[in-house]
Amino acid sequence: MLIKNPKRWDLPERMATPEDVFLNRRALIKTAGLIAAGTALAGLSACDDGQSMEEATPTVPDVDPSASLYPVPRNESYKLDQPITPEEFNLTYNNFYEFGSHKTIAENAQNLRIRPWTVTIDGMVEAEMQIGIDDLLAKIPLEERLYRHRCVEAWSMTVPWSGFPLSQLVELAKPLSSAKYVVMETFNDSSMASGQKQTWWPWPYTEGVTMEEAMNDLAFLVTGAYGKPVAKQMGAPLRLALPWKYGFKSIKSIVKFHFTDKRPTTFWMQSGPREYGFWANVNPDVPHPRWSQASERVLGTNERVPTLLYNGYAEEVAGLYKGLEGERLYM
Ligand code: MTE
Repeated sequence: MLIKNPKRWDLPERMATPEDVFLNRRALIKTAGLIAAGTALAGLSACDDGQSMEEATPTVPDVDPSASLYPVPRNESYKLDQPITPEEFNLTYNNFYEFGSHKTIAENAQNLRIRPWTVTIDGMVEAEMQIGIDDLLAKIPLEERLYRHRCVEAWSMTVPWSGFPLSQLVELAKPLSSAKYVVMETFNDSSMASGQKQTWWPWPYTEGVTMEEAMNDLAFLVTGAYGKPVAKQMGAPLRLALPWKYGFKSIKSIVKFHFTDKRPTTFWMQSGPREYGFWANVNPDVPHPRWSQASERVLGTNERVPTLLYNGYAEEVAGLYKGLEGERLYM
């Protein structure tokens, strides 16, 4: 018999986005003939920051071929103790340096071409492979999870991500027992991503986790959000969500998974070695060299709330770091 202990982030049902809102959104999308319809969906939820939705929501012109896969069933083990951030905030307040080093990159990110999209799996694996995103989506069942997201810049949001556990990609890859890290890489193409013309950044964006972290239940590969394919500005067609780490670890628009026994020097470790490290676990007691991490601004509200150790996921992940106390675990 399966005995399920309630998680601390279990969301009282009254706080969750009701199913009918999702279903109505879907019906509306279908009726309107708009699949990634930032503009159509904007009218469904109030934006409380005084911006008009016409200004705030970018147009998303092309249709994602995976749209019919969504919405996907919610995995009830991954819920929240706070409301979901309204979609328009996630669509319009982004970090995606490939499209500019500011928050309003949404329009520019529409230049991202997401088909064809080939994912390479290489390095210390039984057999290197390349797989198209739609073939990958056909292999692995998708589920929805409600996760927190805490940016190192001290703002936070909550997101209904769709996707599958990173551990399933690892199983598909069949790494050798000598592999200790998975290094992920974003596309590198300045013809569609104007930020990549800024040659002082160490493109392509890379991130990495240990094999133990990759196999942790919480490590999630995102293909959708808010009941449809993930928007380009949020990292289409494949991004990572590591909710216990600062947001920069959640790499967007992944084209490569490389298995290795060498700890990688990632994009932010190269860009700011005194400020960013490999582990980057959320900890309110360890300030960033330039600001406090004790609290966070909750996007879509006027609230500032205390930050939690491991962003509230200590029970699930603290064990990963036993014996590593000498490391800079929190940067
Ligand atoms: N991935 C890539 N390829 N490029 C980026 O600039 N920014 C990171 C992360 N992944 C980034 C990235 C940072 S700093 C954060 S906080 C999150 O993406 C932001 O995700 P969001 O825009 O969906 O909120």
